[in-house]
Amino acid sequence: MPVSPPPSRVRLGINVDHVATLRNARGGMRPDPVRAALAAIEAGADGITAHLREDRRHITDTDMARLKAEISKPLNFEMAATQEMLEIALRTKPHAVCLVPEKRSERTTEGGLDVVGGHNHLVPYVGKLAEHGIRVSLFIEPGERAIEVAARLRVPVVELHTGAWCEAVLTQDRAGDAKGFAQLQRGAKLAQAAGLEVHAGHGLDFDTARRLAAVPEFVEFNIGHFLMGEALFSGLGAAIREMRKAIDEGRSFR
Ligand code: PXP
Repeated sequence: MPVSPPPSRVRLGINVDHVATLRNARGGMRPDPVRAALAAIEAGADGITAHLREDRRHITDTDMARLKAEISKPLNFEMAATQEMLEIALRTKPHAVCLVPEKRSERTTEGGLDVVGGHNHLVPYVGKLAEHGIRVSLFIEPGERAIEVAARLRVPVVELHTGAWCEAVLTQDRAGDAKGFAQLQRGAKLAQAAGLEVHAGHGLDFDTARRLAAVPEFVEFNIGHFLMGEALFSGLGAAIREMRKAIDEGRSFR
């Protein structure tokens, strides 16, 4: 009888943006997102994610440069596809760039990139980053058309936006939960079949991360806001270790 391969471990990327949000509420230097990144790695994070926004509302240029210089794990630089950000990314040389949509008025990254309408705009950004050896990922909704276009853009990775599903779970919208989960499951399969590595992120908590980890195509989750909130109560290391445990439980439950 053929033996099926053991389930692969889901990599856990920790987003430290909101450590900077808290610091910036007062100005000054504390709490330091780089210290949080080092503590996250100590607790088992496989990588660190940070989003340099056009308005610098949380992470700053100096934070990004320090993260690159001071952490021992891969840095995932989230950014909008703009000339300014491209120049900073090429200077910073992170392991990865995740291209995200950005609107000044939004509180957080509200949806995936419009890869269909924005295809021609994205081509030179993907090309330049790849040329410099930076792994490019596109933050997209889990729809078929977006996945098709992402594959045509020849990026190695897509990150599927889990925000709508997580919101449905949180508000106990059963129909939205079922629909959102099915879309993510199908999106992950389609993306993998198109040759893309599949990541997920936005709004994940212990429960949703555990459930999504059961979908074998996902190889990386990027999680921030929920864990920073949990850290207030249990400490950052404990929150990350609990997340690691939840994801590992979800992955082996197949
Ligand atoms: N992945 C991407 C591409 C994001 O933009 C964000 C939010 O900045 C996250 C993951 C993390 O989302 P959250 O902070 O809700 O866990």
